[in-house]
Amino acid sequence: MFTWMPIEGLPHPPQHFIDRAITIANEGKEKHKNITTGYYPGGAEVHVDRTVVLEGEEYSSRYQVGYEIGEDFDQWVKENIVENFVNATVRRSEGKSPLHGAHIDNSRRWAIWYMIERGGEDSRTRFYKLPGHDTEWPLEHRVFNNMDELVEFDSVKWPIKQWFVINTSIIHAITDVVGPRTSIQIGTMDLPFKFK
Ligand SMILES: [Fe+2]
Repeated sequence: MFTWMPIEGLPHPPQHFIDRAITIANEGKEKHKNITTGYYPGGAEVHVDRTVVLEGEEYSSRYQVGYEIGEDFDQWVKENIVENFVNATVRRSEGKSPLHGAHIDNSRRWAIWYMIERGGEDSRTRFYKLPGHDTEWPLEHRVFNNMDELVEFDSVKWPIKQWFVINTSIIHAITDVVGPRTSIQIGTMDLPFKFK
């Protein structure tokens, strides 16, 4: 079991896909407020207006919105990163607080990331255990709004412009988001990488 792992030897996404991804995320930011565009992993109703407690303080949780990048990008992913995937999106973190509350992902077992903007110099993804439970959870959507029940056991400041994989069945949260946070994410159910 691992929380995350860098993936060496994969090609960077061609710049025109990165440019398009940022444009789509920026346009989506304007449109997403009506909750009719974009893809909310786990459903908008689960994430928007979610309140999380951390160290006795209440926070309005951030949330991610995902957007398709295009069929040509999906094809590039198939040929260069992974043959079978659940979704390939650009995701933008939204919300007013610096905290995206603890959760496990429901649409994917693994997330292969390419971080474009981290959300701030000190932004970290943190991994947690809930005492009395397995570290890896079954694939279903679950949020953990009282983060004071959790025990952090790993954390990482993501590398920029580098592929890495996250074990999204472990409880995770993101702290100290103070700026734009945008990433390309490939969701998979297993890890049959095409290493170059
Ligand atoms: Fe997540």
